Amino acid sequence: MTFDPADIRAQFPILSRQVNGRPLVYLDSAASAQKPRAVIDAMVRTTETSYANVHRGLHTLANETTEAFEGARESVRRLINAETTAQVIFTKGATDAINLVASSFGLSLVAGDEIVLSEMEHHSNIVPWHFLRERKGVVLKFIPVLDDGSLDMEAFQALLGPKTRLVAVSHMSNVLGTINPARAIVEMAHAVGAQVLLDGCQAIVHAEIDVQALDVDFYAFSGHKLYGPTGIGVLYGKAERLAALPPYQGGGEMIGSVALDAITYADPPHRFEAGTPPIIEAIGLGAAAEWVMSLDREAVMAHEHGLYRRIKERLNGANWLTEIGTAPGKGAIFAFNVAGAHAHDIAQILDRYGVAVRAGTHCAEPLMRRFGVTSTARASFALYNTLEEADAFADALSRAQTFFA
Ligand code: ALA
Repeated sequence: MTFDPADIRAQFPILSRQVNGRPLVYLDSAASAQKPRAVIDAMVRTTETSYANVHRGLHTLANETTEAFEGARESVRRLINAETTAQVIFTKGATDAINLVASSFGLSLVAGDEIVLSEMEHHSNIVPWHFLRERKGVVLKFIPVLDDGSLDMEAFQALLGPKTRLVAVSHMSNVLGTINPARAIVEMAHAVGAQVLLDGCQAIVHAEIDVQALDVDFYAFSGHKLYGPTGIGVLYGKAERLAALPPYQGGGEMIGSVALDAITYADPPHRFEAGTPPIIEAIGLGAAAEWVMSLDREAVMAHEHGLYRRIKERLNGANWLTEIGTAPGKGAIFAFNVAGAHAHDIAQILDRYGVAVRAGTHCAEPLMRRFGVTSTARASFALYNTLEEADAFADALSRAQTFFA
């Protein structure tokens, strides 16, 4: 196990390019991370040498591709320490994974049943539940966010009750960087008989995830934020939870048998993987999982925290800057506003210096309202960023703010 930031950077071809005549400083990894050579090569290699459809063929290429595809499932299983590969469902992404639970688990809900979310959720973990509010009369409740960006756990306790059927919250906020107390959330929800879905889009990138230790019922994440491709994500579920869920979409491969007047369904995970899956993308995600597991994760986390600390030190005392999200132990995400400036303008000026940040609502409108803003800019760090890049960001931001001073 190793972690050498210089060696890591060399594995990401895109990081050597220039933007607007300056070295690229990519600080938008919370939106989508760049891909290492290991992921790119795995996808190209399969495409060039052994591509066919999976699970359907009896010929050599089909068998090779099926082996690689199911091998990727095993890689993901090890990444999250699921008991079996049957608990790892490949989806189109985290959004698809959450919609799967909302659709299938949602069928068992009746008017008046309650789902607890939080104010810090991004839209992927709000909108699917609104469908159930609109269509079934399910009641949505939201855990308030405190001023530092942490969850109000006392308020959460008060929201739980005999009607709570599901708690669906982010493990790590894509805006605030807050890492929520997942184990406590699971324990509190289970104490009232509710199930828990954790949205792990950001957490899976920055922390080691053990779904068994978390005792969580469902865990969802995307491939593309984890240095893997787009178009692929994962839903983990406890075996008994998945066994109880009806199918999500209908089509090939998710059936036991089909007759004109009857149907039976496959067991998980295939029950939830209708049609030809994203084969190359799953293999890319498997490569990403293996690549991440080959790193010293403790060292990666320390490095990322160091980047965030550097930003804080460099911008300490800047009276033109407001950071949103300062919870203790937060991850390396820095959401901010500059006095007198719109976040979009700040992002565009930073781009002139080669610095890529996101600006807008970050698909989290309720959270923007909670903090009384319409948008923020956001620098999000990944393991391939360096202290020099943190400095370049601080320098560029200091220059950008002078336009609005
Ligand atoms: N949820 C993604 C982000 O935070 C898209 O940018």
